[in-house]
Amino acid sequence: MTTTQGLRDREEPITMLTAYDTPTAEVVDEAGIDVVLVGDSMGNATMGYDSTLPVTMEDVASRTGAVVRGVEDALVVADMPFLSFGVDEAESVRNAGELIKEAGADAVKIESGPHTVETTRRMVDVGIPVMAHVGLTPQHVNRLGGYGRQGTDRAAAETILELAREHEDAGAFSVVLEHVPANLAATITDELDVPTIGIGAGPDCDGQVLVITDVIGLGEWSPSFSAQFGDVRGEMARAVAEYKSAVEAGSFPADEHSHVEDAVDDVE
Ligand code: KIV
Repeated sequence: MTTTQGLRDREEPITMLTAYDTPTAEVVDEAGIDVVLVGDSMGNATMGYDSTLPVTMEDVASRTGAVVRGVEDALVVADMPFLSFGVDEAESVRNAGELIKEAGADAVKIESGPHTVETTRRMVDVGIPVMAHVGLTPQHVNRLGGYGRQGTDRAAAETILELAREHEDAGAFSVVLEHVPANLAATITDELDVPTIGIGAGPDCDGQVLVITDVIGLGEWSPSFSAQFGDVRGEMARAVAEYKSAVEAGSFPADEHSHVEDAVDDVE
């Protein structure tokens, strides 16, 4: 069983992947991935949205439940969707609590900013483990004007480092570093005691995370910092086309897919 504390003492890099449904969670967990993130990336990856902003608490809660039912060993982290935190502190803590208490997550992840330091502290105080997330935070796409690299000048890099430190001080058990220069990620990793998990942040983080649909080659598009390790979309297309041909040719269903009951012969 992976625990938030266990991640801290790891010698090897931490592996983390997203999952949004039970069979995918089973595959990811059986492969020995340490952390399964029920990311709000479900919005782009599986729901046809062009951002994560429309994803709701209900979406994350129901998919977290599905993932939890498929996982035996990995730590399950539920991503808090846009506006489910950061507006009102009590509501933020209650929403995080719902993902733990009702959906069954082990921890929550929050796209972090100066406004989430106290919220993180409060959640940790009441017993909710929090993974922070700095650098590119896709829920801020409208303020940032896109999904570009973050922390590319000294002032911006210092702000990201400070934010990571503040969230560690507030009790975050880990910090995701997204789309920041590799040398900045290396510095933050050196500075923090808690593990960093990088995405588009170079090789020197304590762990790496990617979106499952990018990794298996299911999505139509993936970011430049991602990598495709399979062609599930191609294999799905092949299987669907083969099924269609078999139905049209009359070769499916075959005898082994059907059964005949004498008792219902000539029923009127
Ligand atoms: O939602 C998500 O999948 C994420 C990861 C990309 C870190 O936040």
